This record gives sequence, structure tokens and C-alpha cells, in this order.
Amino acid sequence: MVQVPLIQLNNGITMPVIGLGTWRAPPGEVYKAVQDAIDSGFRHFDCAMLYGNEDEIGQALHDKLKQGTIKREDLFIVSKVWCNSMRPDLVEPTLKKTLKSLRLDYLDQYLTHWPMGFQESDSFYPLGEDGKLQHSDVDYVDSWKAMEEVYRKGLTRSIGISNYNPAQVQRLMKTVSIKPVVNQIEVHPYLIPQDWLDVCKTHDIVVVAYSPLGSNDRPWATKDDPRVLEDPVIMAIAKKHKKTTAQVTLRFLVQLGLVPIPKSSNPKRIKENLEIFDFELTSEEMSEIRALHRNIRYHKHVEALGHRHYPF
Ligand SMILES: NC(=O)c1ccc[n+]([C@@H]2O[C@H](COP(=O)([O-])OP(=O)(O)OC[C@H]3O[C@@H](n4cnc5c(N)ncnc54)[C@H](OP(=O)(O)O)[C@@H]3O)[C@@H](O)[C@H]2O)c1
Repeated sequence: MVQVPLIQLNNGITMPVIGLGTWRAPPGEVYKAVQDAIDSGFRHFDCAMLYGNEDEIGQALHDKLKQGTIKREDLFIVSKVWCNSMRPDLVEPTLKKTLKSLRLDYLDQYLTHWPMGFQESDSFYPLGEDGKLQHSDVDYVDSWKAMEEVYRKGLTRSIGISNYNPAQVQRLMKTVSIKPVVNQIEVHPYLIPQDWLDVCKTHDIVVVAYSPLGSNDRPWATKDDPRVLEDPVIMAIAKKHKKTTAQVTLRFLVQLGLVPIPKSSNPKRIKENLEIFDFELTSEEMSEIRALHRNIRYHKHVEALGHRHYPF
């Protein structure tokens, strides 16, 4: 079983440098994926209420913990508060719902999923009579106070943000009592947003790289979109190292000091994605992959275009 290295966060705790993504890992599939991932060596799981599968992930974790092969303190469980629950008084009850689903007493990390608030409602995408997404006037700076409170109460061992652009990080940092430990953003060889990485480095915030393999399963993909895992430069480097393009891509992100969270529900690929700690990319290879950046953002969250806190 692969032993995953740890990275220290700005509040002193450690987090495994790779985690399993769970978006589009549907109920009926995610139970097995989580168990396979634990057997392969994954300890870090990226969840969110939005993904609609926290109950089944909770069952998988519960059953593994009951078997006694792993202990709760070995796991690093992340979840996120969705945009419809950003109002400060909703943060704690929303986190508690996630804890109930995941069958846990505490999280290891809780993130604000986006800097944007949507109308407080039972719907994740509340629409008005005109069919348009209803925004909330909540400010992420105020939501953060509630995040600090759930941290103080011990409901989560760390708090962080996701999809905050450099200006939003700077603005938030002027008001915080407790710093975010991570900013979870889209990063892969076709999107290496240097200014986003730099602002996080300045504030000692670790960058978690979502869609690290290029998010091929996204429903809005078209057949002409360039695919990271089929890039000829990455294919050539993979051949040299006798690794797959996914392994080279994940290794590249880890060598940049980032924490990728690839999603897979396939036992072979879950295992493959962890086998990245037995080789190293040279500085020339790192530069070749860096040069592939072409500002391709797969997750634009276009539904929220026009929101005053839209980050892109
Ligand atoms: N904070 C946010 O706003 C946000 C946004 C998007 C995603 N995320 C998080 O980031 C995670 C990862 O992002 P993502 O799901 O968009 O995309 P991704 O991890 O870049 O790609 C997932 C796709 O790659 C396939 N795959 C996995 N390993 C592979 C391998 N070794 N070789 C070939 N194909 C492979 C998967 O299929 P199989 O399952 O069939 O292997 C799946 O179709 C999400 O699951 C979620 O947890 C967060």
C-alpha cells in the first residue's frame, strides 16, 4: 500500500498531498470507490454537500472504521458549504448536516465552496420566476466569521476557501482572525494560474488542485476540447518514465507543491493515481509541462455569471 506524504498547513496540522475527488461519483458507485481508495492508501477525501453522495461516503467510511483497519485520526475528510448556505447563521447547521451524512463527529477541513452566495433556499440553484439564478446579498467576508466559529467549536480541524481569485483572497485576508489553510482551485497542465498560486504562497495558503486530470467527465465537455491526458508532451514524458499520462500530470502538480484531488471510481485507476511517489520529473520536464498552460478553464460556473462575487 502506498504511503502518501503529508504537507503541513498554516494552523499546524498535516494533510495528505493527494486526495480522492468525489464529484460525479454517484451513489451506488462511490461506496466501493471510497473503500478501494482506502485499501490503496488514500486517506484524504474531497467531499461536498452539492455532490449528493455524502450519505454513501459516510457508510463506506463507517464500515471501514468498524473493520478496524484504519482509525479516524488516519483519515482527512474535507467537505464544503454550498452557495445557498453562505449566510453566517446557516454555516454551522449545514456543516452539522454533512457530519450526520458522513457519520463523523468532526471534519478535517471545511471550505466555502465558492465566494458567491445564492438565495437561501432548499435548492442548490434557486431560480426566480424569470428562470434566473437568485443571488444572495451575503458577503463571503461575513460567511468567514461563521467558518471561524465552527473551527473554534472543534467541528472541523481546519477551514479554507475554494474558487477565490487573488483579489478576493487579499480582501478576505484583511479581515480574518483565523487564516484559511487552503484555496481549492482548478489547476492542471492547461491551467496554471500563476497569480492565483502566488497570492496563496504569500499568505501561506496551500493550493488544492481540483480537476487535476482535466475533468474529462464534465457534462459540458465537447469532443473538440483539448484533453490533458492525451497531450503529446505529457505522453512523451510518460513514456520515458514508464508511467501513464495521469501519473505524470499528478506528479507534476505535487512537485509544484500543490495537492491534487483526482476523482476516480475505477479500482485500477484509483491505485494508479497513487503510484506517483516512486519517480521524479526533471526540471526540464517540469518546464515543458509548465509551458502547456493555455488558460483553459473547464469549470467556469457560467450559471453564476454576473454575480458580484463571480471569481473569473
Ligand atoms: N471546489 C470546486 O469547485 C470543485 C470543482 C470541480 C471539482 N472539484 C473536486 O475535484 C475533484 C476532481 O475533479 P474532477 O472530478 O472535475 O476531474 P478530474 O479528477 O480531473 O478527472 C476525473 C475524470 O478522470 C478519469 N480518471 C481518473 N483517473 C484516471 C486515470 N488514471 N487515467 C484516465 N482517466 C482517469 C475519471 O474517470 P473514472 O472515474 O472512470 O476513473 C473521471 O472521468 C472532484 O471530484 C471534486 O472532488 C472541486
